[in-house]
Amino acid sequence: MASSITIFILMILNNPPTTVHANPIKNIVVLIMENRSFDHMLGWMKRINPEINGVDGSEVNQLSVTDTNSKRFYFNNQSHYLDPDPGHSFQAIREQIFGSDNDTSGNPPSMNGFAQQAYDMDNTTSMSQSVINGFDPDMVVFYKTLISEFAVFDRWFASVPSSTQPNRLYVHSATSNGATNYIPALLIRATHKELHLIISMMPEYPSEYTTRIFRPLFYRNLRKLKYITKFHEYDLSFKQHSNEGKLPGYVVVEQRYMDTKVYETLRASPRWNETLFVITYDEHGGFFDHVPTPVSGVPSTNGIVRPDPFLFKFDRLGVRVPTIAVSPWIEKGTVVHGPNESPFPTSEYEHSSIPATVKKLYDLSSFLTKRGEWAVTFEGIVEKKTQPRTDCPELMQLAAVLKDHILTSFPDKIRNEMNVKQGKEYMEDAVRRFFEAGQYAKKMGVSEEHIILN
Ligand SMILES: *[C@@H]1O[C@H](CO)[C@@H](O)[C@H](O)[C@H]1NC(C)=O
Ligand SMILES: *[C@@H]1O[C@H](CO)[C@@H](O)[C@H](O)[C@H]1NC(C)=O
Ligand SMILES: *[C@@H]1O[C@H](CO)[C@@H](O)[C@H](O)[C@H]1NC(C)=O
Ligand SMILES: *[C@@H]1O[C@H](CO)[C@@H](O)[C@H](O)[C@H]1NC(C)=O
Ligand SMILES: *[C@@H]1O[C@H](CO)[C@@H](O)[C@H](O)[C@H]1NC(C)=O
Repeated sequence: MASSITIFILMILNNPPTTVHANPIKNIVVLIMENRSFDHMLGWMKRINPEINGVDGSEVNQLSVTDTNSKRFYFNNQSHYLDPDPGHSFQAIREQIFGSDNDTSGNPPSMNGFAQQAYDMDNTTSMSQSVINGFDPDMVVFYKTLISEFAVFDRWFASVPSSTQPNRLYVHSATSNGATNYIPALLIRATHKELHLIISMMPEYPSEYTTRIFRPLFYRNLRKLKYITKFHEYDLSFKQHSNEGKLPGYVVVEQRYMDTKVYETLRASPRWNETLFVITYDEHGGFFDHVPTPVSGVPSTNGIVRPDPFLFKFDRLGVRVPTIAVSPWIEKGTVVHGPNESPFPTSEYEHSSIPATVKKLYDLSSFLTKRGEWAVTFEGIVEKKTQPRTDCPELMQLAAVLKDHILTSFPDKIRNEMNVKQGKEYMEDAVRRFFEAGQYAKKMGVSEEHIILN
């Protein structure tokens, strides 16, 4: 009798129900890149995988939307670095997607004003051709490899038809708290309630690995004393923490341009089998995309309306951007399309999908905002397999095929330009003072909830 019970129990243990796949992810790493549309970075990947909604060269914009005889620009494969950036302010994007600067009634929008808007900035037409342009897959071999090995989303939009900062806020908070452009004062003052960062819901958290620009310190909530030990210099600590299996549950990496090292580091980690790595672009940077931007059925986040002249209600999305998900739990060559009419009939993938998915994977108590509730989540892509893959490429394979000189030379250029713009000395001084004040407050036994340099 005793032995048959033992056998019965053993049988149960050896045959776990196959329908239930618990979440295998304990390590989510998000890398936010800047200013590139889907078609610009990945449109030509359709040649490699026809399932991807990319380009074939028939996509066209005219120099003047209203003049059918004006010069035509067909989508090309000769992308190169553009300086200055094409326009991507709220006004510029409105003209790009609607082909008009005062008529936003098009649904779907025509996506035919990119060449015209670029011409407003550069009347030689050189920028007009540059924005209707994408990378040849062999120029972005790192992405070519990731897409064939893991998952690409071919219908993922920026959250706001506007510039870098508001879109980054959606990645963190599923709202920009009413910002359509870069408003440092808003971040510096914003309270927990207004900008409820997903990372602040993590038990062990937050952790942010960043380069010289200490962007996280702009967020008031992240200046609490208890977080002082959670910020790290990317170059000093990311690799070490990863190698030691000590990366926390949710990590944001800022400002690494085309950095294969993030992948290689995670791949080599003892926690690789628990890792989900997401790469996204904050916004499209003024580059053409052929997929119409959703302009209806998008919930306004907190009922916020921008003042005149735009009266923008945060009720339409930005242009489609590249998003790639990497994990040994993802099937090779996955293409995630949308929309799938869930959780709401109009739901789409956009930056709020990140905090919304984190909520599901980690079973957090609540969605951050209405927009976060509406956004499509993607935890399903890591819940299909019963075992992690063992055939994911390693560090050397990726490094060997990387021939992308244009993009690998970006980081220094960009970093330098930003330091000039944002005031290098100011930033360094602010960072130093933050740490000094924090260490001092800690010694003095100040409450962990205290905001440093308030
Ligand atoms: C937009 O401006 C043009 C030219 O000024 C004008 O003809 C047109 O009626 C305006 N359209 C709307 C919707 O305001
Ligand atoms: C282009 O802009 C330059 C400088 O503003 C101006 O001198 C030139 O006439 C313009 N050319 C055309 C074709 O509009
Ligand atoms: C890029 O365009 C050139 C010229 O049209 C063509 O020969 C080449 O095959 C294209 N490459 C890709 C990857 O589409
Ligand atoms: C991206 O756009 C922002 C403005 O939205 C600008 O400050 C930044 O320099 C741009 N970055 C790159 C890589 O072009
Ligand atoms: C990941 O899981 C695979 C399959 O179970 C195993 O062979 C491999 O050693 C694991 N890797 C790590 C880093 O634990």
